[in-house]
Amino acid sequence: MGDDSTATRPRRAEAPWWQSAVVYQIYPRSFADSDGDGVGDLAGIASRLDHVARLGVDAVWLSPFYRSPMADFGYDVSDHTDVDPVFGDLRAFDRLLAAAHRRGLRVLLDWVPNHTSSQHPWFLDSRSSRSSPRRDWYIWRDGRDGGPPNNWLSAFGGPAWTLDDATGQWYLHLFLPEQPDLNWANPEVVEAMHGVLRFWLDRGVDGFRADVVHLIGKDEALADRPAGLAERDLVGSYHEPRTHELLRGIRRVLDEYGGDRVMVGEIPLLSPALLVPYYGRGDELHVVFNFTLMHLPWAAEAFRAAVAEADGLLSAAGAWPSWVLSNHDQPRHRTRFGGSEERARAAAVLLLTLRGTPFLYAGEELGLLDAEVPAEARVDPGGRDGSRAPIPWDSAPGHGWPARPWLPWPPDPARRNAAAEDADPDSVLSLYRRLLRARRRSAALRLGSWRLLGSPAGTLAYERRRGGDVRRVAIGFGEEPVEGVLAVSGWRVEVASHEEREGGRWDGRLRPSEAVVLEADRR
Ligand code: NOJ
Repeated sequence: MGDDSTATRPRRAEAPWWQSAVVYQIYPRSFADSDGDGVGDLAGIASRLDHVARLGVDAVWLSPFYRSPMADFGYDVSDHTDVDPVFGDLRAFDRLLAAAHRRGLRVLLDWVPNHTSSQHPWFLDSRSSRSSPRRDWYIWRDGRDGGPPNNWLSAFGGPAWTLDDATGQWYLHLFLPEQPDLNWANPEVVEAMHGVLRFWLDRGVDGFRADVVHLIGKDEALADRPAGLAERDLVGSYHEPRTHELLRGIRRVLDEYGGDRVMVGEIPLLSPALLVPYYGRGDELHVVFNFTLMHLPWAAEAFRAAVAEADGLLSAAGAWPSWVLSNHDQPRHRTRFGGSEERARAAAVLLLTLRGTPFLYAGEELGLLDAEVPAEARVDPGGRDGSRAPIPWDSAPGHGWPARPWLPWPPDPARRNAAAEDADPDSVLSLYRRLLRARRRSAALRLGSWRLLGSPAGTLAYERRRGGDVRRVAIGFGEEPVEGVLAVSGWRVEVASHEEREGGRWDGRLRPSEAVVLEADRR
């Protein structure tokens, strides 16, 4: 394992590896099934790693595979240091990690610090009596006027408190009642959760994606939320200063490992200004998810404003940006943008040419739409089944899955699958591969500065530059062709949303929802 992990680490990098990396999120239940129970697993992921390596990404992030009662499909962890039997076992994990490292792929794990499962031994102990030594590992309070201790709401609806009849107190859960919040004000909790990080770091993982990590520091008074905020759950709007001290402690744990392990934080606050503090002074999170693109309509003005705002704020703060179009919590971006494959292609050009670390969600490289999930097949308490549909690997009736998967297929799996797209040079998959190849070739695209360029209404154009390496990107959002986009002389099309335009001289024309990456024409 040690040999494999060092093999992936360059001796002298031009920047920390996570800055030039593209990360690929795998939702283990939905990726690939090796044992025929209809649920994806770790051996299944290992069997499909060549797809990931050929795509040209640098790292994978695995959504939780730990022991869990699956009330929130793994985000309710009942044992942080073991693999749930549905996904395999620790040996399967070690094999997967080694196989990824052999292919030069780093591996990030999902770490869920804000809460555990209500079946976790820590919580069972905590709830067993008011005098349990672990009582204070979770957040217990007396009720108020026969109701919950304050007015906080849970992200899945209803109060964020549940009364425990046996001990007569309420416990806090910002998500499901099956996900009680840990009390990070207790140093024993801090130590225990640091121990979880060390367990996986010692096994050789390259870092973590920290689930809703902005929520771990709680206001001690647990004050009521004021009108205006009281009607919403806390996830999108809670930011409490004491989280920062906790993040510095977490960072120190990673830094014990030689400085190349990374912590990516999920902070779903939608204003980039609120994300900046979570980088600290370079001593908190290495990267913070920026989810703003996931909430935009397909409109040039909206994208221009969001990208310019985030890039400006983060670069002024010396903080490295990140970009996300899709994940397991939202409808896929193709679905959000009205189902258009052209828009999904143009969006891919944008995502992979902005300044910052892009995060891909498995299946977006195939241009997948969300599955339509009939009422009787719905399983997620948060209504997110559609984007969690299984990955279709080939055109055969089972699409590479040995048994019927746990969720229905995304639309048109007989044509829209990895094998069919692998064979088609103009598929969405081939476009992602060309874009990722272009990033690898160009320091400007990986690490360069970002500058907005003037362009006609309905388009977005920008330049990336690092030293003498320059790329220009133009994206059309409208329904009509546009002319006069950027200077034409001296530029050729390096990558286009359809390959037939590539290699040609730039003529300043964009078709509807078309996007191009231009490089200086040196011929
Ligand atoms: C964010 C995760 O992405 C989501 O899937 C989960 O339900 C919540 N955090 C709670 O862990």
